[in-house]
Order: sequence, then structure tokens, then C-alpha cells
Amino acid sequence: MTQTRCGSNLRAMNTPNKTTPAKAKPITAPDIRAMKNGEKICCITAYDYASGLIADQAGVDLVLVGDSLAMTVLGYENTLSVTVDDMVHHTRAASRGVRRALLVSDMPFMSFATVDRALENGHRLMAEGRAGAVKLEGGMPVAPQIKALTGAGIPVMAHVGLTPQHVAEFGGFKAQGKSAESARALIDDAKAVEEAGAFCVVLEAIPVEVAELVTEAVSIPTIGIGAGNVTDGQILVYNDVLGIFDRFTPKFVRRYAELGTEARKSLEMYCADVRRTTFPSDKNTIYMPEDQLAQVRKIRVKNKKK
Ligand code: KIV
Repeated sequence: MTQTRCGSNLRAMNTPNKTTPAKAKPITAPDIRAMKNGEKICCITAYDYASGLIADQAGVDLVLVGDSLAMTVLGYENTLSVTVDDMVHHTRAASRGVRRALLVSDMPFMSFATVDRALENGHRLMAEGRAGAVKLEGGMPVAPQIKALTGAGIPVMAHVGLTPQHVAEFGGFKAQGKSAESARALIDDAKAVEEAGAFCVVLEAIPVEVAELVTEAVSIPTIGIGAGNVTDGQILVYNDVLGIFDRFTPKFVRRYAELGTEARKSLEMYCADVRRTTFPSDKNTIYMPEDQLAQVRKIRVKNKKK
């Protein structure tokens, strides 16, 4: 059977199941690139082995170790404090769980301020972090960095619209592209990152009408988060989807579970069991073989006599 890279054939061949998870062919950046106008591309963030494994087993196409880990995992106010070392550490952990999906690592704030820094840090995320691609925020101004990275063999996912690394400049986490002028600038940014060699582009928190224009204007897939149902794919933050981020839930998030509440309830039950001595029970206890026990009892008696 000839492999079609996009749409349902790729999914039929590659969707993992319980019996053959290790055999699924890993998805590459060119595979994602070829999914433009095909089946919707499903992306999610993950930050470690456990979340990477669960995302991969669920059959997502692309797992992003987002710098949102600054807020979701490390507890910072925004994404600005996360370092390249943090990203390498978490990407490497996620890489042990992600077997089929394309693993993308986010380049932190200022880590791609110059072409040289972009190359040095992109190299680290691929070689030490074991990512299959990197993501960086920004449009036209970072086109030289995207060109250099792709030229060096590092696939780049671009990110325009609400770019959280510009939160100070934007004055908060605010939707972008709401005026005709800023919409035009967004389209130009998306075209610039495509021209520079990005294999796909994230559109964050922009009006659906603008997302549609951008999606039509570029030949690389657009991946929306708060950009309506018109993009080639969607991405959400793992902790938002599962209900384990406590601070706020953006309008564009759909929560599919309340695992934070479930986890807290479970730990309350555990504490109660420990305190009323119903845990551990017989089932959780290790017992000695009878013959060994007799000898151990003798040791205890001897010790007592001393
Ligand atoms: O860091 C992140 O999680 C992201 C996604 C929201 C696209 O950039």
C-alpha cells in the first residue's frame, strides 16, 4: 500500500492501538506540512514523560513542549522566566513518552534574539532535548532566524497573533488582529514565516475572519488556538483541557475533564485513610515467608535480652 502523507490514510496506518503502539511510523515535520487542507491536525502541549505518553497514546499528531510550562508546571506568572535549560530538560522527558507524534520544543523568550543564538539554542533543543522541530514566536522580524534554522536542518513551527512572550508589549494576554490594519500585518507576518521556511504556523487569539484569511493566504498549515474553526489544525494546553490549571481558563478553551478536582479529592481520601489507619491494608502489605519469620522472631528475642 502506498503511503499518503496527509488525511485519513496516514491516520489509518499510524493511529496507535493497544497492541502495536511501538510500530506506528513517527510523524515528521514534512508530514504535518503535507496535511494542509486535509484532515484536521490535532496538537496538544505536554511537559514530561507522563503527559507526553498520554498525548501520544491518544493519537495526537503533534506534541508541543510549550514554554507555557512556565505557568502550568513551574508556577510563574507568565512565560518570560523559562530558560533553555528548562526547555531541554522537559523536552527530553517528553521525548521518552512521545513515540509517534511530532515532538516540537518551544524556544524561550530571547533565546532566538539573534540568528546565532537561535542556531545555538535550536541545536540544543534538537540534540539534547531530542525534539523533532522547534517553535518560535513572531512574524516578519524573526524571518532571518527561521531561515537560518531551517537552513541548518531544524524544522520551525512559527507562531503569530497573541504571542505570550510579548505580553509586556501588548499590556496583557489580549486578542490580536482586531483592526483592519493589524489584520493586514498578521497576514504579512504569516506570509513572511512561510517564505522563511516554517512548516506550519500557530495563530493564537485572533478573530475567526482573520484566521480564515491567513489560512487562505499561506500554503503551510495554520494551527489555531482561539482562532475559530477555520484553521488546518487546533492546539490547546494540556492542563487547560484536563482541568488542572487553577488560575484562569481562556474563552477559547474547552475543558474535557476536571482532573485537578479529581486529584485533590483522591489525595484527601488518602490522607483520611492514613489518619484513621485504614491504609495500608492487608492487600498493600508485604509478609515474610513462614520459615524466615521464625528466625526473625528469634533475632528479636535475642535483641530484647541484651
Ligand atoms: O507555549 C504554549 O503552550 C504555546 C501554545 C499555546 C501554542 O505556545
